[in-house]
Amino acid sequence: MIDLSGKEAIVTGGGSGIGRGICAVLALAGARVLVTDVSIESAEETLKYCERLNNLTAAKIDVTDIASIEETVSRHVADRGKIDILVNNAGIVGSKDWWMRETPSNEDWLEVYEVNLRGMVKVSERVAKEFESQGSGKIVNIASISARQGSPDIPHYSTSKAAVVSWTQSHALKMAPHNVNVNAVCPGLIWTPIWEAIAKKRSEFAGSVEVDGLEGRQLFDHTVKSWIPLQREQTPEDIGNIVAFLVSDLAKNITGQSINVDGGRFTN
Ligand SMILES: NC(=O)c1ccc[n+]([C@@H]2O[C@H](COP(=O)([O-])OP(=O)(O)OC[C@H]3O[C@@H](n4cnc5c(N)ncnc54)[C@H](O)[C@@H]3O)[C@@H](O)[C@H]2O)c1
Repeated sequence: MIDLSGKEAIVTGGGSGIGRGICAVLALAGARVLVTDVSIESAEETLKYCERLNNLTAAKIDVTDIASIEETVSRHVADRGKIDILVNNAGIVGSKDWWMRETPSNEDWLEVYEVNLRGMVKVSERVAKEFESQGSGKIVNIASISARQGSPDIPHYSTSKAAVVSWTQSHALKMAPHNVNVNAVCPGLIWTPIWEAIAKKRSEFAGSVEVDGLEGRQLFDHTVKSWIPLQREQTPEDIGNIVAFLVSDLAKNITGQSINVDGGRFTN
């Protein structure tokens, strides 16, 4: 078992899907987890989801808003004295109703970059100040297998996630002299609100991918069967498990890496 007792973790976008799974696994491993989200109600839902554990608290962080990052991180350090682990998980695929547009709009491009890339950088740079003065820390960025191969229907999302992989390499090299590990995880196919929206787009604009007239969860299941060699979907807990490993001492010599958790979809 990975033991994260005594560790202080902050997770962004922890109010739903993969972020919720990461919070649950880190808390089960003994870390104290600050579940943050742009929606404080969603973050509080994660606390209810983990109701048998008493080592989670909720706070608002909008990763696009420096004031919101500063307020929550500073309050956390004042209350708890340190941060050991940052998981940059918050992510979107576009601006409002993005799945209704066959081609992403200018707003889709801008908002995806603002949340997926700039938001991750803003939170990382603020937390890195604490890591530098502590002389230790772990960062895990949630990228995607969309970083591994272009997606003709969501090119803005794919390029933002390729940028997450590249930032992970740069930041790992910058933080190594401070004894900080920076890695990324590339999740495969996980049935969350993001994938529900991708399914809506792919059934509406069927030309963009082979879907056989399917919708929603059926389209997702079909994609799993046709894309994933291991023939099963991934889960939020699968991503939580690799994050728990990467932030543990077992992974102390791993940095700058982006690890696929995708049932064999990509083998390099
Ligand atoms: N679901 C998949 O198959 C899949 C695959 C690969 C990568 N991912 C990535 O995993 C991460 C989580 O995705 P998910 O599938 O759980 O989606 P989700 O929509 O369930 O969760 C995303 C969370 O991010 C939060 N968020 C959005 N904008 C924010 C902001 N400005 N500040 C703070 N929080 C914000 C949302 O409120 C939500 O709670 C994302 O980075 C996504 O790109 C998902």
